[in-house]
Amino acid sequence: MNLEELKAIKETALAEANEANTIDAIENVRILYLSRNGKLPEIMAEIKNIPTEEKAVFGQTINAFKNELNEIIKTKQKTLSSAEDRSSFDVSQPGQWSSLGSSHPITQITDRICSIFQTLGFTIAEGPEVETIYNNFDALNTPADHPSRDEQDTFYLNSGELLRCHTSPVQIRYMKNHKPPVRIISPGRCYRRDTPDATHSASFHQIEGLYVDQNVSLSDLKGTISYFARELMGPEVKTRFRPHFFPFTEPSFEVDLMHPTSGWIEVLGAGLVDPDVFQNVGYDSKKVSGFAFGMGVERIAMIMYGIKDIRHLYENDRRFLHQF
Ligand code: PHE
Repeated sequence: MNLEELKAIKETALAEANEANTIDAIENVRILYLSRNGKLPEIMAEIKNIPTEEKAVFGQTINAFKNELNEIIKTKQKTLSSAEDRSSFDVSQPGQWSSLGSSHPITQITDRICSIFQTLGFTIAEGPEVETIYNNFDALNTPADHPSRDEQDTFYLNSGELLRCHTSPVQIRYMKNHKPPVRIISPGRCYRRDTPDATHSASFHQIEGLYVDQNVSLSDLKGTISYFARELMGPEVKTRFRPHFFPFTEPSFEVDLMHPTSGWIEVLGAGLVDPDVFQNVGYDSKKVSGFAFGMGVERIAMIMYGIKDIRHLYENDRRFLHQF
């Protein structure tokens, strides 16, 4: 055998491999050339008869031949076998369903609450979890000596910002960028330095509401909250307003709902927007008035679903989550 003959055999072999279009055909090419009794081992055995000066080139040609052929065979095996798998797919078999997830109870309650307010014409406005100290406190009329500004109460970042401790800064952001009337609902995550236990978590969710227009009064607030409570928990639910204090509302209230299974429960803070807050965002408090409220989503979810430990809501154990 000489180099020319070797090259001719290589051409034929590569062409045969390239043309093979079934798994069997490609296997036949492999057996014909690469198996123990195939052509390549036979050609290797010929090396000893090749003149010394041609041995090197002859050997290199054989190696290249072997590698190229192997490469083609491997690729063909892959593509042909997956094509055959597909063609043997039985369309009459029942489908295989992967199990469906469910939305998290926090998400479900948030969506429900937001949609109740959306039917009243509120739109959703969101704000960042990393806030300026100004938006989170000062603009909300919360002075530097207020206890909630203590380092032990809130997470301060090296950047000079903080993790918002309530959704109320969204009120500031929104009013600064929009003229009245304002009707927004703002769901989101908040943070406080709480030691985790059955009812506390360092991160939790709130929903903020803000309504600003001409002649908004306390009776609008009471009517809106009572409507909301009935929509959420049923027509027999009762609402109770207790006087309270928040720096950014005046007067301020805590609102309790009477739930058939748990009695009176406190679910939200609310009040009429303090004139100082209007001044901070450039609204004229002689022309507009408004109400604001904020509620904790976890608390409502725990009451409505009978969840005893807030930590269940964050562990994401599917056995727990699938119940909702
Ligand atoms: N931001 C208050 C809180 O986190 C709740 C609140 C919102 C109260 C709006 C009044 C008005 O406790």
